[in-house]
Parts: sequence; structure tokens; C-alpha cells
Amino acid sequence: MLEAASGADERHAAPPRVADGGERALHAPVRAAWGDEDTGVASEPPLRFGRRHVVGRHPLELDACVGEAGVRSQVGLVPRVIVADDADPHEAESTPATLHRMAAPVAKNQELELRIDSLAYGGSGVARLNGFVVFVRRALPGDVVRARITKVKRSHAEAVSLEVVEPGAPRVEAPCVHYPECGGCRFQDLAYGAQLEAKARQVADALARIGGLVDVELEAAVPAESLFHYRNKLEYSFTETPDGVGLGFHRAGRWDEVLDLERCWLTTDLGNGIREAVKEWARGQGLPAYDQERQDGYLRHLVVREGRNTGQALVVLVTAPGDLAGADALVEALRRFPEVRSVHWAVNDSAAEVTNLPTDLLWGDEAIEEEILGLRFRVRPNAFLQTNTAMCEVLYRLAGEYAGLTGEETVYDLYCGTGTIGLTLARDALTVWGIELSEESIACAVENAELNAVANAAFFAGDVARDLDELRDRAGPPDVVVVDPPRAGLAGKAVRRIGELRAPRLVYVSCNPTTLAGNAKELVGEFGYRLERARPADMFPHTPHVETVALFTLGEPTK
Ligand SMILES: C[S@@+](CC[C@H](N)C(=O)[O-])C[C@H]1O[C@@H](n2cnc3c(N)ncnc32)[C@H](O)[C@@H]1O
Repeated sequence: MLEAASGADERHAAPPRVADGGERALHAPVRAAWGDEDTGVASEPPLRFGRRHVVGRHPLELDACVGEAGVRSQVGLVPRVIVADDADPHEAESTPATLHRMAAPVAKNQELELRIDSLAYGGSGVARLNGFVVFVRRALPGDVVRARITKVKRSHAEAVSLEVVEPGAPRVEAPCVHYPECGGCRFQDLAYGAQLEAKARQVADALARIGGLVDVELEAAVPAESLFHYRNKLEYSFTETPDGVGLGFHRAGRWDEVLDLERCWLTTDLGNGIREAVKEWARGQGLPAYDQERQDGYLRHLVVREGRNTGQALVVLVTAPGDLAGADALVEALRRFPEVRSVHWAVNDSAAEVTNLPTDLLWGDEAIEEEILGLRFRVRPNAFLQTNTAMCEVLYRLAGEYAGLTGEETVYDLYCGTGTIGLTLARDALTVWGIELSEESIACAVENAELNAVANAAFFAGDVARDLDELRDRAGPPDVVVVDPPRAGLAGKAVRRIGELRAPRLVYVSCNPTTLAGNAKELVGEFGYRLERARPADMFPHTPHVETVALFTLGEPTK
């Protein structure tokens, strides 16, 4: 049986102290088949109390949790699934309510002038030819561009802008010399106010078109605190250049070409300095870059993580199999940066471009720390952490405000990752119960609870769709549910299970307005929720991404 917190009633029986860490299966029987059509999730063990699980060579190999369940994180400046080049750039527009099948008025390779109305989710400009939608890459709202049609489908066409005939968007000088060749930024030359406005409009459009929620008044979008230097994690690829090995990001729209960088505006001077020092080391050692197409060579990727509020940095070098020549020299080069506390080496023996691999510690501490809203969080090489620390604090603060906690509530933190949201809410709640698919993330959540002496939070490895009933049996019904699902949103079964909980308050932290809108439609239409508040927040200036925090309530409005 669980220990009850002193003074807590039966319903609010406190979670076991995380410090005990014992693995105890919950009472409810666990289904044999693990993984279903809803999530496509690979086999996972039953819901269990968080504990440290040793996997591979490193005790805590975490998958970055931005990817869809079961999908490993891909290398790139941002997870590949959310870069417009790779994602379906038309999600917001691609619902039957939005795109109508009609005879295409354009043909492939045709060149024509198009006026761009708006920005689609994913970053392409939207033009309309008598109602037929054309998504135009590298075109900004308000522009008239000469474009070439690259693809014609029954419901829409795709094109690329060749020339801006009449600029309409409020343009600014892009500060980065690598823009627009580099795949990292899409809108450096669009004035920030217009970027924010376009993102807010995408959220409102998605809620209206996909969610059918036409009268939602969004709260003013929260602008990014910094337009540049905001990322706390960057993943670079090695490449060959005439001057020797280079390090950078994929060229825009190219999986097979990497652009050597002089300076990236999304990281700090420290981040740029570390990358350049590693480049110099690699050139000095004469080590060849890995060629993704030919699948030969040695140096593959470099991951640099920074605790922005702690001033600590962690570095992971990823190579193909083979001894690491010059490991001591690498450590020496990196130790010149006093912020570097942890240097790892990982071997990728597959063709896949991944960095979330087991690591060997070459020097220093196994992990660094980051501080978020006054709590400390361990950052291991593969642990998920929101990649913009300052805006992560904004997002969590907003989630806390929407949760409206008084200290009496049972809170579920669903899709809890390493426990960051739940732990920041725990001080204002009676109990917090987190569920997360990745056992490694749960191990981190437990460690983070211990680190911050949070005793009223418990974390479980499990699948939200499958294991929510089991959690409810143990924790009692929730007063507040917080969900922070991957980009794919809440799967059909998950949204039904969550709706059936009938929590008076449901806070939805979303990184994809189109899936938020689909889920909102069901929560409102099928489960009687009201979308009471919603606020976009810009975590990633110059990219197509937008986060939204939404509050769904049952009963009378609480405003
Ligand atoms: C966007 S992350 C959120 C992490 C965390 N809330 C944070 O702010 O750092 C989504 C998380 O959902 C997890 N996840 C994906 N599918 C899941 C499922 N079916 N059940 C439980 N967790 C899942 C992923 O592993 C990932 O950690």
C-alpha cells in the first residue's frame, strides 16, 4: 500500500516518497499486448514506480521527448519532424474543411506570379488561385513572388519562390551570414512582430478550421524573450570542406549537404566557441568527416548543451565505430572553457542520423544542471529538456497560472518527460502524479524530485492511453490534468481516456496548433469541455514553430 501523507485524506493519499524508488507494479492487471494502433509505441513494461533503469553502457539513456512516441530524435538544428522542409508544411490547411478538391489550375514546372496571403503551419506562404491553394516555400505574407510549381496534388500545389516581385512583408536585414542557405532559420528577414502575428494567426486559424472553435479569443501571444542566442542545445553535423573538416547544419531543404558554420546566431558565444574548438581539434587530428550518402568516414555529430541559468556546458562527440584518436587533446581543448563540465563520446554504428545514443564519459561530471523556476534539473547527454530555457520558464509559469492551484489539488502531469512541469507545480498542489512512456525519463524525473526535495510527486513509466485508468485507481480522480503531448498530439484513445477523467481543469501545453485543435474539437464536442483560455508563446523565433497553452474547463467559467 502507498504511504498516506500526513493529514491527507483517502482520495488524496500522497504518492510514495520518490526517494524510496522501489519498483512496485500497480494493482490493476496489465495487458499483455503493449503498444497499440493509437500510439504505434513499441513494447514497454507495465506502469511502474520510477526508478533508475540501467540500459546499455550508460545508466540513463534518454530519448529526446520531442519526437513522436517510438521515434528517435533526428539530428538537425531542431527535431526534423518539425522543420518545415521535412514536415508536411500544410497541416493547418490540409483538413477537408480547408482544402477543396478541384481541377488544378496549375501544372508542374509552370512559373507564375503569386500573391502570398498568409503563412501556413510549417512555414510556407499560402497563395490562392480562385480558391485553389498553392503553398510557396520561401515566400512571406504580403509578397508577390514569381514562383515555380514543384508539385501538383488534387487538393493543392506546392511551389518555390524564385524572386520577390513586390515585397509586402515587413523585411529586416538578416544578421546571419549563413541565412538563407542554412536550414536552421526560416524567417530571419521577416520583422519579428510579423513573425509573432503570423504564429498567433496560425493558432487561431487551426482552432477555427480544424477545431470548429470560431469564437475563441486568444490571449496576446507571448513574444520570445530573446530573438537570438536562445537555444540551450544544438546538434551539429561534420562535413568535408576545402579547408578540412567543417561543422554545421544541413542546408535548407537538403538532407545530404551540410553547411560549415562560422557563427550561429541561435547559440551563445560559448556554444560557437566550443564548436570552433572541436573543429580545430578535428582538423589537427586529420580525422575525416562521415559521409551520410556513402556511409563512410568517422566524425558524425557534435552535441553541445548549456545550462543557461547555471553556466554549465556538456559536450558529446558522436563518431562512427573505431578508436577515438586524440581523445586527450579533445578534452584539453574543451577544458579551456571553464563552463564545460562534462565531455562524452558516443558511437553510432547505424546509418541513421541519430545522436541519442549511449555515451562514454571522457572527462568531468556525468551530467550538468539547469535551473528552471528555481528548481534544479539534471541534464544528461540524452535527457529531454525544453531547448529554450527562458521561454520554458514562461510556458511553465503560464501552465501554472492556468492550473490555478491552491494547495489542495490532485494533479496529473501526463507526458511528463523528466518531470519538469509536475515538479514546478508540486509546491502549489497536494499531490502530483506523472506518466511518461520513456523509463529513462522517469528515472530522471525521480532523480529531479530527489534533487529538489519534492516529496509529494510520483512518476510512472507507462502509456497515457493505456494506463490512465490504473493511475486513477491509485491516485484518485484528478482536480487538474496537465498534458504536454508530442507533436502528434493526443492519440484518439488517449483523448477519450483523458476526457472520461472529467477533471474540472485541463491544461494543454501544445507544440503543434493543428493537433491541439483536433483534440480541442473532441474535448469540447464529446466531453463537454469549454476552451476557456488559450495563449500562444513563441519559443523559437525565425522558425515555423509555435507553442500554445490552453485551459479547458468543465462547469461554469472560472474567469
Ligand atoms: C513534448 S514532451 C514533454 C515533456 C515534458 N512535459 C517537458 O516539458 O519537458 C512529450 C513527452 O511525451 C512522451 N510520450 C510520448 N507518447 C507517450 C505516451 N503514449 N504515453 C506517455 N508518454 C508519452 C514522450 O516520451 C515525451 O517525453
